[in-house]
Amino acid sequence: MKIIMLGAPGAGKGTQAKLIAEKYGLPHVSTGDIFRANVKEGTQLGLEAKKYMDQGLLVPDELTVRILLDRVSRPDCSAGYVLDGFPRTIPQAQVLEKALAELGDQIDFAIDVDVPDENIVRRMGGRRACVTCGATYHMEHVPPRTEGICDTCGGELILREDDKPDTVKNRLKVYHEQTQPLIDFYQKKGVLRVVDGTMDMKDVFEAIVAILG
Ligand code: AP5
Ligand code: MG
Repeated sequence: MKIIMLGAPGAGKGTQAKLIAEKYGLPHVSTGDIFRANVKEGTQLGLEAKKYMDQGLLVPDELTVRILLDRVSRPDCSAGYVLDGFPRTIPQAQVLEKALAELGDQIDFAIDVDVPDENIVRRMGGRRACVTCGATYHMEHVPPRTEGICDTCGGELILREDDKPDTVKNRLKVYHEQTQPLIDFYQKKGVLRVVDGTMDMKDVFEAIVAILG
């Protein structure tokens, strides 16, 4: 099963993608996580991506597409995957569609986690991410057992550089301009499903499971 998670920054794509990946035994492929891991390791790709990410801008399609196609061509993706944060532009979606068509394949579901902008800004300010393993928490909704410390690995929890309010506003603007048109794109392909992302995390997940079966 090949699934795409759509939705604004902070809509809960990563949260739900992780749950889907666990339940259905699929790899969770997040371009944002791949970029952040590279930034942390100080690779060439990381240095390049950071320039855009810190401003809330998209990393150029050419670079992003190369990384993604490389990742999904690995053996663990042969039975499917959950894409989180890709595609984010129409050209990215077209490249993916073409690559899959060459294998006689296609996307099964594009799930739009729908959350209005007002809720987003509030949510992002409360998010904390582990610098070591990347796990995410929310100060109100998913607090760690000990403040500032990751439950899983004991790493330090920080506010992501791009979760600062001004950058969040920029990310939302970029989302509406470049990513929202994908909702129409996948609607026309007949694979779009919309879930209300303002519900509790577990209710959002139940709605997704009802779609995926
Ligand atoms: P990326 O990492 O993909 O960031 P994003 O889309 O901005 O989304 P987030 O990860 O911030 O949010 P999310 O929807 O995963 O929400 P989460 O589950 O964490 O991309 C970062 C950057 O990388 C981009 O800006 C760009 O520069 C670059 N990039 C990545 N992919 C690219 C691409 N394809 N092309 C070009 N550039 C690319 O949830 C958010 C918070 O809310 C958490 O704290 C969570 O605990 C909480 N929460 C989740 N669900 C709920 C709920 N139902 N109720 C209450 N709280 C909730
Ligand atoms: Mg995410």
